[in-house]
Amino acid sequence: MLAFALSVNGRSVELDVPREASLLHVLRNDLGLNGPKYGCGLGQCGACTVWVDGVAARACVIPAHGVAGREITTLEGLGSRDKWHPVQQGFEEAQAAQCGYCLSGMVMQAAALLAREPHPSEAQIRNELSGNLCRCGTHVEIMAAVRRAAELMAKKDADL
Ligand code: FES
Ligand code: FES
Repeated sequence: MLAFALSVNGRSVELDVPREASLLHVLRNDLGLNGPKYGCGLGQCGACTVWVDGVAARACVIPAHGVAGREITTLEGLGSRDKWHPVQQGFEEAQAAQCGYCLSGMVMQAAALLAREPHPSEAQIRNELSGNLCRCGTHVEIMAAVRRAAELMAKKDADL
């Protein structure tokens, strides 16, 4: 076992977990954060995507102790039921989900893109989401959702 602290969604949490525990395992099983999903467990599907210091990362292949002292953000830290992040709103408006299993990872990956590139081209969106797999095939709606999210973010900036 290994004792260390993680900063998750702005909160510091003390952990004592097996050395080999992945960040995804700790988030879901120790902290009850079920936004990030277990898909492949191999870093290849994107279902487990979270942010590490604002950069999208695959939580299933990151040892939890390896990100001690870094800021981890999960879907639960992106927006809330009362105040959605524009990307969540874009996905809702575009009805970009069937089973929804890929959705958390898609949202986290898309939000990371829009944070660094507020006006992405179609090719940039496709490239960013190319490692996030949707087995239901809602890709057309997902593209529309990210474009809508970019519009919402631009409107929000203009209203400030
Ligand atoms: S579960 Fe992490 S990339 Fe598939
Ligand atoms: S909506 Fe089912 S995997 Fe994407």
